[in-house]
Amino acid sequence: MFWTIFLLFNGLFIVVLFYSTRTRKKNEPPLDKGFIPWLGHALEFLKDSAKFLARMKEKHGDIFTVRVAGHYVTVLLDPNSFDAVLNDTVFLDFTNSRNQLIQKIFSLQLPSVKPAAERKWMERHFQGLSLSKLNSSINTHLQNLLLSDQKGCSPSEWRQDGLFSLCYSLLFRAGYLTMFERRDNAAAVYKEFRQFDNLLTKLARSSLKRGESETANSSRERLWELLSPNLLSGTSESNSWQQSYHHFLQEEGVDAEMQKRALLLQLWTTQCNAGPAAFWLLGFLLTHPEAMEAVKSEIRGLTLLDTSLQHPPINLLEAHSTPVLDSVLSETLRLTAAVMIRREVVQDKILCMANGKEYHLRRGDRVCLFPFLSPQMDPQIHQEPQLFKYDRFLDDNMTVKEKFYKDGKRIKYHTMPWGGGRNTCVGKEFAVTAIKQFVFLLLTQLDLEMCDPEAKLPPVNTSRYGFGMLQPDGDLQVRYRLRRTQHEM
Ligand code: HEM
Repeated sequence: MFWTIFLLFNGLFIVVLFYSTRTRKKNEPPLDKGFIPWLGHALEFLKDSAKFLARMKEKHGDIFTVRVAGHYVTVLLDPNSFDAVLNDTVFLDFTNSRNQLIQKIFSLQLPSVKPAAERKWMERHFQGLSLSKLNSSINTHLQNLLLSDQKGCSPSEWRQDGLFSLCYSLLFRAGYLTMFERRDNAAAVYKEFRQFDNLLTKLARSSLKRGESETANSSRERLWELLSPNLLSGTSESNSWQQSYHHFLQEEGVDAEMQKRALLLQLWTTQCNAGPAAFWLLGFLLTHPEAMEAVKSEIRGLTLLDTSLQHPPINLLEAHSTPVLDSVLSETLRLTAAVMIRREVVQDKILCMANGKEYHLRRGDRVCLFPFLSPQMDPQIHQEPQLFKYDRFLDDNMTVKEKFYKDGKRIKYHTMPWGGGRNTCVGKEFAVTAIKQFVFLLLTQLDLEMCDPEAKLPPVNTSRYGFGMLQPDGDLQVRYRLRRTQHEM
């Protein structure tokens, strides 16, 4: 026993020493190991990645390597050099680390599923006719939920809620009813999902405390059950997205248990971003009256057309351009979408930067792009990047502004809320339509105002950097009631 412990301790010591003694070689990016052996910068990175990486950018520039819990991560923050990472499938790999993450968070193993086949299958459902059906279905569910949630209240009665709860709950349930077969349990799924989602970043980082571990496990198991098709209820739709997913997994050789678990991964992928995005958008409008007025004025223009043509809102938004609302959405996502694009270096690689410099990346290291920091919050690309400017993405002639510059050079990626390259969000069109419909619906159907007119948006929950849409730390209290006619807006 003594010798086993002694040998283990020595082995560990040698590994720690090996990793601590790494030095920067010629042509490698600046290396910043931090002071704590093995852990390196892990604590600062996990607490607030954006703040930490901004500090490193200030110190080292657009490319550097940091040590985080035994891993060496090369962070690239020059958007004009992103393609060298996004387009490389030979020297860089994302499948392995993605599978590990899926195992940790969802207790799910899908080794036989080929990512390219899965993406192709997904794309079929979010394009063309399928997309139109999804759009109109979510619109119907949004309207029905908004009305059914008001049942039991007199029309003039104000209700109070947190804006985040209101947006997340409505968009989540409408999205769930659109894509999943069970019609009887949307509220229960939402409640359980929020509990699970609150622990998601800790699950990913293996930093759950004892009590939290039990909550996460039971929440996950309950969600697996809730998402399973209810064979007895007879609601199973043979043509549904969920059925198609089952067939796809079956063809890829996935067993029944993993098929059941995979539904939670899909629930998270498809439902976790739109609600928070709608919250930030409405939150920015409520706290920026000039932006709210610009959006309302654009909508008033559309609804005038509506009375003559009797268009449902979905067609209305499809048939007419809404440059102001589009700009507000782009600006919202610029400030609050914070994905981290990660790759593993599987062979030594020379990374060619847009400025002509070349850096050597070591096999076994990781590479990370964090578009939130650059381009999205880069003051050389977006002036006063911390401020919400509703017309930032509008040209003088009221069309979408697409040209942004850094050092006089046009930037290819000026904002990247949907990721990039081969893994760009499959649901982008669906998400954009859903968020716009939702905002349209709330602004036309509800009187909506902040409980405290002087209130500010809550700060960001800093632990969520790297996991898609940011979430607030706290909420913004609002009051609302059904509007009697749209034209009061
Ligand atoms: C505001 C809403 C949304 C945002 C900001 C967003 C953002 C993203 C981002 C950044 C990625 C790439 C992740 C990575 O590279 O690691 C992604 C992937 C994906 N998104 Fe979205 N998403 C949103 C909504 C949706 C919706 C509504 C759906 C489907 C209904 C969806 C389906 C997907 C899928 C399937 C992928 C995986 C693509 C792949 O791995 O090839 N997303 N999303």
